[in-house]
Amino acid sequence: MQIAVIGTGYVGLVTGACFAEFGNTVTCVDKDAAKIDSLIKGRVPIYEPGLDAIVQKNLKEGRLAFSTNLAEAIEKSLVVLLAVGTPDRGDGFADMSQIEEVARRIAFALNGYKVIVTKSTVPVGAAGRIKSIIDENKTSGVRFSVAANPEFLREGAAINDFLRPDRVVIGCRDEEAIAILKDLYRPLYLIETPFVITTPESAELIKYASNAFLATKVSFVNEIANLCDLLGADVKDVAKGMGMDKRIGPKFLHPGPGFGGSCFPKDARALVALAKDAGYELKIANAVIDVNEQQRELSLDRIRELVPDLNAKTIAVLGLSFKPETDDIRESPAIKIIEKLIAAGARVKAYDPASMEAAKAVLPEVQYCEDEYAAGRGADALVLITEWNQFRGLDLQRLRNEIRSPNIVDLRNVYEPHTVRSFGFKYVSMGRNRAH
Ligand code: UGA
Repeated sequence: MQIAVIGTGYVGLVTGACFAEFGNTVTCVDKDAAKIDSLIKGRVPIYEPGLDAIVQKNLKEGRLAFSTNLAEAIEKSLVVLLAVGTPDRGDGFADMSQIEEVARRIAFALNGYKVIVTKSTVPVGAAGRIKSIIDENKTSGVRFSVAANPEFLREGAAINDFLRPDRVVIGCRDEEAIAILKDLYRPLYLIETPFVITTPESAELIKYASNAFLATKVSFVNEIANLCDLLGADVKDVAKGMGMDKRIGPKFLHPGPGFGGSCFPKDARALVALAKDAGYELKIANAVIDVNEQQRELSLDRIRELVPDLNAKTIAVLGLSFKPETDDIRESPAIKIIEKLIAAGARVKAYDPASMEAAKAVLPEVQYCEDEYAAGRGADALVLITEWNQFRGLDLQRLRNEIRSPNIVDLRNVYEPHTVRSFGFKYVSMGRNRAH
């Protein structure tokens, strides 16, 4: 099948490359000519494990192309997937201007029946809005369908999530379009992926409700961890015991400095705004956002337990991206915590395997180091904020020799307290501080 993917950000690039991997002929379109030029050469601008290999292979085999020519890509495609940005417009609502602009341009380029599909996270009602824009602007009587097909990709695991998803959600009212989209996803039938066929509005809400629910689990366990510290319980055991109940499940029960990234914070706010606009107050989602903000401040309190006066102290930070296996620092807890450390007068040294370039642009005052040990050298405390695998097996003796004051704050509960303490460190983590 010939398809077009509009927008070569994170979602567009993974979607385009993976649909090409399924055997379709894909044109990925972006208005950023420099980005398209480098993609044509097989250079992928984001860090996502496995993505370069799939892009390069499908480019070479002729199933994947990159272009700035939107009209041409639409004209030759049966399915047009929209993966342009829907950022927070400042009041919690998603900014739909890029989607609306593309919808207008699709209307002018319609030269036969096409299925227009939203892949970006869009507010409930977006498919209806796209349909009206195309109807108002199309120059001929050509038929088209609009469908919502939200993505559930995790950064750092996006290729696997695309090729082996828990489910595919298709929101559409036209049987013909549903059949075409099922055909597009045919390889997933072979691995018995469940499909949810529903209305566009329900599909759009499934995406927001799923992200908000996962964010709820994170904020919930963060509050339980805070309570564990007051009551002398160990949150690792509490979460383990909870997660064994199949109705709860063990995933997304890891406490930490709060959720970040381009999705959870934005989508939780957008869901609250969407509900408010509909005349309903989502109390739980509101509390999830508040607890997440509080968790950033609480992370600083954890550091102050070992370094009470941060002024003129040197703090080593490990991990800057919002989670491991990505270079994405959007709404990263590490960035927020470093800002607070600097505001309190601390000098910050940092190391991250992938996101130091991105961090330099927003935090130029930080000293960026070549590895974990260089970051720890001469520091008054080492704070582990993002749980990259390479931080799980630090040479604690070497670190002990490099650091000025032997303090470790482990905001991801990566280490066992007794192991770290046996090297002479003082150790603070999340929800285990009075249990051991
Ligand atoms: C999330 C969803 O998991 C995807 O299904 C969804 O497609 C995506 O948003 C999106 O809307 O595009 P992602 O933002 O890549 O994916 O990251 P997650 O792995 O879900 O983690 C989100 C945040 O929660 C991270 O900051 C992570 O550190 C935090 N988290 C997660 C915890 O603090 N504890 C946990 O137990 C799990």
